[in-house]
Amino acid sequence: MNILLLGSGGREHALAWKIAASPLLTRLWCAPGNAGIASEAECVALDVADHGAVIAFCKANAVDLVVVGPEAPLAAGIVDDLAAAGIKAFGPSRLAARLEGSKGFTKDLCKANGIPTAAYERFSDAAMAKAYIRARGAPIVVKADGLAAGKGVVVAMTLAEAEAAIDAMLGEGKGEAVVEEFLTGEEASFFVLCDGVTALPLATAQDHKRAFDGDKGPNTGGMGAYSPAPVMSEAMCARAMDEIVRPTLKAMAAMGCPYKGVLYAGLMITADGPELIEYNVRFGDPECQVLMLRLMSDLVPALLASCDGQLAHFDLRWFDEPALTVVMAANGYPGDYAKGTRIEGLAEAGQVEGVQIFHAGTRAQGDAILANGGRVLNVTASGKTVGEARARAYAAIDRIRWPEGFCRRDIGWQAIAREKAD
Ligand code: AMP
Ligand code: GLY
Repeated sequence: MNILLLGSGGREHALAWKIAASPLLTRLWCAPGNAGIASEAECVALDVADHGAVIAFCKANAVDLVVVGPEAPLAAGIVDDLAAAGIKAFGPSRLAARLEGSKGFTKDLCKANGIPTAAYERFSDAAMAKAYIRARGAPIVVKADGLAAGKGVVVAMTLAEAEAAIDAMLGEGKGEAVVEEFLTGEEASFFVLCDGVTALPLATAQDHKRAFDGDKGPNTGGMGAYSPAPVMSEAMCARAMDEIVRPTLKAMAAMGCPYKGVLYAGLMITADGPELIEYNVRFGDPECQVLMLRLMSDLVPALLASCDGQLAHFDLRWFDEPALTVVMAANGYPGDYAKGTRIEGLAEAGQVEGVQIFHAGTRAQGDAILANGGRVLNVTASGKTVGEARARAYAAIDRIRWPEGFCRRDIGWQAIAREKAD
């Protein structure tokens, strides 16, 4: 099979690594890719936003399957356009991708189908939103509608913060916001593979969104993750399937936009059970990196079964061993940072037992690897325990020489505290 993967981050490097291991594969391309992906796939300088160019590439190279990594091309309808051109693509259609693209759409779907989620109201008028906020009191959560790359959510501990968030989102008289109840509990990410009708649970993960140790500092795309999430027991996964995922698939099919692809449910495990915080319509980044390390089965037949509506009789095998990934980012991230700094020691770091290094934002210059983004490397490891996986990941990081980069030193702390208590 010939496969084209779209994207350029650590998620796509992990997908490329797993796809490249498939005996079904003939050729793998990645557009645009990065310096790490280049060791698994042929990187091509295609503009992913130009659907016509992607289709032309697929036709010229007899591509059998396109795998879409990030959400933006999905929301732009790339899967629909490829399908119209007769090309199979893994991921949801434009209308199904509204589960991530519009918080209002997802909240209304939950309400109409009895799916547990924080109580909410939608607003386009700032004064009405503020009146609601004052009536409900703080803490309260304010979310911008639409794709916001993780920056559209304000968890407001005071009324003043909530009102400022409303001014920022609705102040100019345009835009939409969701104001919702503040949930307490432990967060977990639950990944399922869908084919429009059937959902197959993949695995669970927990990530670390804040930039600095102790979960301090600004929100980021994710500074590290581990899988499985201890809070997602078998019983909790079964509840999440029954109460959240299956009713969502049923509702999407009934609306004429059946959901295919990976569905990533961000959950809050409250005293009453799982509640949906948000959906994403793709693999998480960096959660995908730990999932791919734990997946024993070939990924490619699973992607095909999702596209072909064949998941009902499909199964995947997983390693029981946990996996953990630490993100190395450029100093300054998630604010301004420099590009083009030199990274050394990657080969020695990759030799630490159980370690895989995925590139998230790099480019090659001759033999040198240069940083080319905010999140730059994902040092990923498996081990008998989360503690062992973490020790391996940091042992690898200690071999990497990159003074212009930083990482958190406490990835996995909740899981390791549990392991110590057991
Ligand atoms: P997001 O950027 O959409 O992933 O959301 C950022 C974070 O905001 C989530 O990971 C949660 O920690 C938090 N959050 C979102 N909604 C709620 C809520 N209703 N209650 C408490 N925390 C929330
Ligand atoms: N790590 C969070 C995300 O991929 O949205």
